[in-house]
Amino acid sequence: MTQSLTIARPDDWHLHLRDGAMLAAVLPETARDFARAIIMPNLVPPVTTGAMATAYRDRILAALSEGMTFEPLMTLYLTEDTDPADVAAAHASGLVKAVKLYPAGATTNSASGVSNFDKVRAVLETMAEIGLPLCVHGEVTDAAIDIFDREAVFIDRVLDPVRRATPGLRVVMEHITTKNGVDYVKAHDKDLGATITTHHFIINRNHILVGGIKPHYYCLPVAKREEHRLALRAAATSGDHRFFLGTDSAPHTDPNKESACGCAGCFTATNTMPLLAHVFEGEGALANLEAFSSRNGPAFYGLPVNDATLTLTKGDAPTQFPAKIDTDDGPVTVFDPGFPVYWSAR
Ligand code: DOR
Ligand code: ZN
Repeated sequence: MTQSLTIARPDDWHLHLRDGAMLAAVLPETARDFARAIIMPNLVPPVTTGAMATAYRDRILAALSEGMTFEPLMTLYLTEDTDPADVAAAHASGLVKAVKLYPAGATTNSASGVSNFDKVRAVLETMAEIGLPLCVHGEVTDAAIDIFDREAVFIDRVLDPVRRATPGLRVVMEHITTKNGVDYVKAHDKDLGATITTHHFIINRNHILVGGIKPHYYCLPVAKREEHRLALRAAATSGDHRFFLGTDSAPHTDPNKESACGCAGCFTATNTMPLLAHVFEGEGALANLEAFSSRNGPAFYGLPVNDATLTLTKGDAPTQFPAKIDTDDGPVTVFDPGFPVYWSAR
């Protein structure tokens, strides 16, 4: 029996589009289902100034094919040299919707990120004044901390002290992967939200490592134990306004993933909405899918919910998603949930 669900058109509050040939190939995968996305600034070199964000936005719009509508919501990459006045001007002009904090060395192209938080104090205070959100990659980089503990330790050592020191700073904990992250968000109602990715609802750390290493399931923050996956699912499917979709869809070519030192990132732009319908249906919470993917994010960012809609349809046969998309840089593998999915999106 065919079942269908029409929701306000979703937005992706954490997306990597890259640049050049990769941008051209992955942009339609997102624009097909999503109206807007918060665009990550970890290019090489990173998008650190308003002028660079303007130029990157123009490249994204130029890569959109005829007939596709999509609004990129730009971010600035926070460095220890970021100028508070440049950030304020980029916000005032409407160009920039958030600033991204990468602890230096935490992930892909994060070398220019922050090591000494005293050096970004003035920027964070300006952001608190003007209401510009900080999107946080929440992992410590201390070599002594086990990779599976890096998010929980970051909350205690970095996030909570920074939030206490900067009252009014609006923070998005990006791609939370732990029950600790869920609990921290739930305990703080004001000025705090969190994005959750598609893949962290579906895989735990066993999926990466049992029966052979699966490079296409490796991302950062790395998937954790099953109890954490279940906590993420419960938080998102509850409809709680503090949790919203940020896919962290992060394309890397197959040679860069299937390597002795493979890159972090799962590419989920192509099939995220059908996968989310599957996840929410499995939790008996299809009625809350719209809140998670289309309403809670705009509410946090103070933007209108999209007028356009997206219809999800459940058919009798499994949906055939492409295994890979082709780019001029090489193939990119589409995230494979490892089970049949009967939903598709239009
Ligand atoms: O898995 C990830 N990939 N996590 C990140 O934080 C960065 C991203 C990327 O840019 O590839
Ligand atoms: Zn990311």
